Amino acid sequence: MELIKLSRPYLKDKNNLMNLIEEIIDSGLFVQGKYVSLLENQVANYLDVKHAIAVSSGTAALHLSLVALGISNRDEVIVPAYTFPATANVVELVGAKPVLIDVDLETYNMAVDQLENSITHKTKAIIPVHLFGNPANMAKIMEIAKKYNLWVIEDAAGALGAVFEGKKCGTIGHLGCFSFHPRKIVTTAEGGIIVTNDDELANKIRILRNHGILENGNQKDFVLAGFNYRMNEIEAALGIIQMKEIKKIIEERQVLSKTYIDYLSDVSNIQFQKILPNCTSVWQAFVMYLKNKNINRLQKLLQDNMIEVNIGTYAVHILQYYAKKYGYKEDDYPNAFELYSRSIALPFYNGMEIEKVYQVINVLKGVLNEN
Ligand SMILES: Cc1ncc(COP(=O)(O)O)c(C=O)c1O
Repeated sequence: MELIKLSRPYLKDKNNLMNLIEEIIDSGLFVQGKYVSLLENQVANYLDVKHAIAVSSGTAALHLSLVALGISNRDEVIVPAYTFPATANVVELVGAKPVLIDVDLETYNMAVDQLENSITHKTKAIIPVHLFGNPANMAKIMEIAKKYNLWVIEDAAGALGAVFEGKKCGTIGHLGCFSFHPRKIVTTAEGGIIVTNDDELANKIRILRNHGILENGNQKDFVLAGFNYRMNEIEAALGIIQMKEIKKIIEERQVLSKTYIDYLSDVSNIQFQKILPNCTSVWQAFVMYLKNKNINRLQKLLQDNMIEVNIGTYAVHILQYYAKKYGYKEDDYPNAFELYSRSIALPFYNGMEIEKVYQVINVLKGVLNEN
């Protein structure tokens, strides 16, 4: 029996990709050139945003955003407790304190009703995450941010194309960060992109991404202590090919998620990720919360049936670094801990054959009914 993989990058148009890569190799121009600019334009047009700045990863995007905003060691930044750890790590990397807040058990996103209680005189920014491509409650988050004069950096790592009340995720806050990791909607192998409508921030981010260099015609000046967080041309070529099919990529993910939901909704104790009204999720991953279930055992049984699964994502407060530094206990963020302990991601990718979807559904139903 063939293994049904958790995820696969979508790169159908290999001929065009190979032509682009050949051209890049022949040109000898590998670093942040015309193809990186082309990808930036595609993303800016797609999201209808003024600036799109390609970088080397989603983590680099978040890190650069915090540095550009001048967030540092006396500051606090609010992040959800259930997310990929990079969301909190970047706050640590600029010397600030990530203030965790619990998530909602239904949407898996930041519990906005707890937001105001977490704000102190040190709070500078909020990083809401649109987890697994599902829009966080940006209306409420922007309302509170405005009231307390806080920056909002959207961690839209997996949410390219997701929509909150008519607006594309990543374009609602001051800055939006996307990842192009292979498990994301579009991949450049490694890569990310920052979007903003703020000219000044965009300019600073462009300088910081490239060693702090300000170019003026042929003149170069090092005006900031910057990073090398550039994307390369071959990575950009991968992204360009997929961006041409972004609508199709997202539509297929809607169909796949609907199939899973339709066929699994009669199984007791399964809770699918809830999407807020007037919002569209792009289903970066298909993660279900299985109330009262032993996930380790379930994972093992599915793997025995050649189905690759994974946990949803991490509860930041119980990771060794955070638990040691801040003395957190499991029940400090009960929903994050519950989702970490009892959620699984099912195989889910563009081009997944319908027979494989049915196979996963049948095996899962059998395993869940026995357990
Ligand atoms: C929510 C979230 N934030 C940030 C990242 C970091 O992105 P990258 O892996 O491109 O650095 C990821 C990706 O894994 C993510 O899922």
